[in-house]
Amino acid sequence: MQTRVTLHRDFVTSIIDGRLYSAFLEHMGRAIYGGIYEPGHPQADANGFRQDVLKMVRELAPPLVRYPGGNFVSAYNWEDGIGPREERPVRLDLAWHSRESNQIGIHEFADWCEQAGIEMMLAVNLGSRGIDEARNFLEYVNHPGGSAWSDERIKNGRKDPWNVRLWCLGNEMDGPWQIGHKTAAEYGHLANETGKALKAYDRSLELVACGSSNPGMASYPEWEATVLDHCYETVDYISLHMYFTNHEDQLGDYLAIAEQLDRYIVSIAGVIDYIKAKKRTRHQVHICFDEWNVWYHSVQQDRRVLEGTEWNFAPPILEDVYNVEDALLIGCVLNTFIRRSDRVRIACMAQLVNVIAPIMTETGGDAWRQTIFYPLMFASRYGRGKALQLAVDGPTYQTRELDDVPCLDISAVHDEEGGFVTLFAVNRHQKEALDLNVALHGFENARLVEHQCLNHPQMKAINTASQPDQVRPIAGDGVGVEEGALKGNLAPLSYHMIRLS
Ligand code: AHR
Repeated sequence: MQTRVTLHRDFVTSIIDGRLYSAFLEHMGRAIYGGIYEPGHPQADANGFRQDVLKMVRELAPPLVRYPGGNFVSAYNWEDGIGPREERPVRLDLAWHSRESNQIGIHEFADWCEQAGIEMMLAVNLGSRGIDEARNFLEYVNHPGGSAWSDERIKNGRKDPWNVRLWCLGNEMDGPWQIGHKTAAEYGHLANETGKALKAYDRSLELVACGSSNPGMASYPEWEATVLDHCYETVDYISLHMYFTNHEDQLGDYLAIAEQLDRYIVSIAGVIDYIKAKKRTRHQVHICFDEWNVWYHSVQQDRRVLEGTEWNFAPPILEDVYNVEDALLIGCVLNTFIRRSDRVRIACMAQLVNVIAPIMTETGGDAWRQTIFYPLMFASRYGRGKALQLAVDGPTYQTRELDDVPCLDISAVHDEEGGFVTLFAVNRHQKEALDLNVALHGFENARLVEHQCLNHPQMKAINTASQPDQVRPIAGDGVGVEEGALKGNLAPLSYHMIRLS
């Protein structure tokens, strides 16, 4: 099936913000305890941080990690996680029906981020708490010294402030499940007042207001309009969340979810533009897509824990095991973010280790890469630079909800400094290969540097501790550059990373 794509060196959508490939770690399940931190594990260092996990995190190279929640943050006291560890309280985590030992707090997490080479994005609790907690936490984290909270940090062993630039004003405040859930007007007011307090300390901070938990929320998109009406001038981002499911096992529909994601982004971009016009301001708010991933494999089995009566430490919840289908969808989602990178500046795959994550561990055992690890790794490594606009002319298919879903999902990034153009492509056709022809305007002399391909005869294939490499990328063949065009064949249901120089 013939598919023609045209790209041009000068047709640039945006300069991609590297934070498009960020991560999220929440105090829940085995993300922190048993994930990044497992004292006594053979791979753990003196601080208890698993070096095998850190190695894989470095391969993904996320520039930023959101912490400490998620739903967890809406009843979290950050002060529980500071001071001598043996004196820290054990608390009940109402969001995830578990017990929290507070053995990891801001100091330990910041140490882990330093080892991993990742910047922190911190969320404040606007569920059970408010402005005071947020301003105190900021003072503790960012002020050099000579004030009560900054001196407390120094007393606790950290002289230099961490100087965190990006702060989330709560989490999913539109969700009735959230501790301290609010109406849009209540939350918009609180976000504005909290944001004003944080920016009174430092005008250069970047603040994220909560948008919708998903586009199916009854309050969407009125939520964003009302919230931004209250806090547009105070904040820099509105957050969006979306989790993808395939409960009905309909592969064509599943892979087309990226089109719905695209509509979601475009709609919220429209709301931002509307409020910007209404305020008659030059200030530009962007989208921070700070939770996204596939989440459905583990939902049924987690009911036992989440609706049960036990309060365990780090119960294994949300441990989705990902297959090849999921990896293809993740490729399409990342392509959507790249194509919309003029509006979406930051995106965090939720989450990073064990909890709906690209990296899995066995407590006391090995760590391995899930199928979804690879498209994220390639995008993070090679998807930095200028996002190029593409014209695509090829076959389409229909789903139960959408007409004209392109079989080829593709994005391209020009790394001008390094001298590379990278294409990320997914063939969503279930039976036919795509006969690709990409006209490379402005890159006529480019040559193929690398082609990595992810496809597998079994779409339900997964990686496990005993078979960690069952699904992994292999060097692709069948594509090459001839006469100023990239030509080749993309197998049905396959993902490709193609680098030209
Ligand atoms: O990432 C898991 C959970 O999903 C987060 O805690 C919450 O914000 C979202 O509903």
